[in-house]
Amino acid sequence: MNEGKFITLEGGEGVGKSTNMLFIKEQLEKEGIKVITTREPGGTGFAEKIRALLLEKNREEKVTEKAELLLMFAARAQHIDFIIQPALTKGLWVLCDRFTDATYAYQGGGRSMDMKMIAWLEDKVQGSLRPDLTLLLDAPIDVGIDRASQRGKLDRFESEKSSFFEKVREVYLQRAKLYPQVIKVINADQDLDKVQGEIRIQLQKLLVIE
Ligand code: TMP
Repeated sequence: MNEGKFITLEGGEGVGKSTNMLFIKEQLEKEGIKVITTREPGGTGFAEKIRALLLEKNREEKVTEKAELLLMFAARAQHIDFIIQPALTKGLWVLCDRFTDATYAYQGGGRSMDMKMIAWLEDKVQGSLRPDLTLLLDAPIDVGIDRASQRGKLDRFESEKSSFFEKVREVYLQRAKLYPQVIKVINADQDLDKVQGEIRIQLQKLLVIE
């Protein structure tokens, strides 16, 4: 039984995840909640090495879609066993920058991989672990890509074509429709104080049902 809550933040490239990770953490801490922040792929020493492999661009050997998918879940397995589950069991809240919805969106949507295979891996790797709340920062893809390019060198995912990101966004929104109790869409294409106002409302709802 988990005593802490598991919150994930999702969205395409350049939608403002980093700024809002900090904001969410502060909001929870103001309520006296002990929260750890982490990210995927990554979150442990070994998983961060997998992350570096996944994001590296311009290597001679192409990474196959299957290898990419399995590496995402390999990193996730480490992260769950060593960071996420122990924290939740101790009663800490976990705030994670991306989780399995990103796999559905990027590998299932962007790379058109079999959603059933993703669901199978999700069950095997996570058991019953699912987020209590997922905040999906949504913006038209040109807005996000512009912001991401201003940050400097693009990684292997950020260098994908816009059709890839259209599919990523589409799958994220489909999943939000499928799981409206958990996945809350936040309009990220507006002033930051409005974005954060929407986030605050969703956090308050979670705190009420706690
Ligand atoms: P970040 O730059 O937002 O931290 O995420 C790293 C990249 O990894 C991002 O482009 C999305 C991608 N990704 C996947 O393709 N599948 C996944 O399951 C996760 C967690 C991330």
